[in-house]
Amino acid sequence: MSPSDERAAQFLQTSSAWTEAAMEQLLPPGDEHPSELYRAMRYSVFGGGKRLRPALCYAAAAACGGEARDFWPVACALEFVHTYSLIHDDLPALDNDEYRRGRPTNHRVFGEAMALLAGDALLTLAFETVLRAPAESAVTVRLARELAVASGGLGMVAGQAADMLGEDRALDFGQLRFIHSRKTGALLRAAVRMGAIAAGGSDEALDALSGYAERIGLAFQIVDDILDVTGSASALGKSPGADAAHGKSTYPALMGLDESRREVRRLTDEAVELLAGARLTQTGVLEDLAHFLVRRDR
Ligand code: IPE
Ligand code: IPE
Ligand code: MG
Ligand code: MG
Ligand code: MG
Repeated sequence: MSPSDERAAQFLQTSSAWTEAAMEQLLPPGDEHPSELYRAMRYSVFGGGKRLRPALCYAAAAACGGEARDFWPVACALEFVHTYSLIHDDLPALDNDEYRRGRPTNHRVFGEAMALLAGDALLTLAFETVLRAPAESAVTVRLARELAVASGGLGMVAGQAADMLGEDRALDFGQLRFIHSRKTGALLRAAVRMGAIAAGGSDEALDALSGYAERIGLAFQIVDDILDVTGSASALGKSPGADAAHGKSTYPALMGLDESRREVRRLTDEAVELLAGARLTQTGVLEDLAHFLVRRDR
């Protein structure tokens, strides 16, 4: 591992521990009534995710001069939305996937009804949680709005809808970018922006960080598409080949693997350059994370 990857891995490990300790407190105990619901929520939340959105949130807060760990409510809110989106994404009505993070998908363990409800409860818990952010109420309102817009019908849900409607159809790059920037990009962008907003970042910082996040968000989903072609089930923890099986348009399908990898490098370089141009306190972690996100194997 390169020194940069080691630093990113170290930051992810440390920040995941902050996020997981807080999520443990925020989730209802698994033995409380109705325990099937709480067990279903806990099953997916603690299923071994990479916790990238929380890490980006903390790193952006630090880049704006904040004490990263203080922003655990924002980080947990992002991870709750992400987890809900994965549970619903795997449902038979959507991607109909059997494995997630190396274990059977939520609906295969708890049934479709409970998987739907666990997703509903996580999405709403996210908004309850973001309201605990250590910030003035005007800032908290802004954070809740960012999260709502990014995850809702103009953001992630729009991307998921377009992704479903695009199955078995030949999409062009514009249509594919629409899907990727919303189904995945919107929440990653919100993670970076919300960390910056919570820590009181300037408009200039927010602009640079948004540009950074848009590029790594797209790069991240291109890598997800590449790994769906090249990855192994054991490394990924989910079944590879699912995109082709569902007739999804992806970067590798449209431009091939080599060109997709070049596009990822180009986007990552641009993202890192944008950071250098802004007056931010410390951008090292964001830089390391950008490189790490695209070199990952799961
Ligand atoms: C997977 O996201 C779904 C996409 C948005 C591409 P991650 O790769 O961040 O999933 P986990 O949380 O680490 O399992
Ligand atoms: C998922 O995209 C995006 C969301 C969950 C919002 P994918 O369908 O490509 O993610 P994986 O490959 O199942 O993790
Ligand atoms: Mg999907
Ligand atoms: Mg999927
Ligand atoms: Mg995928």
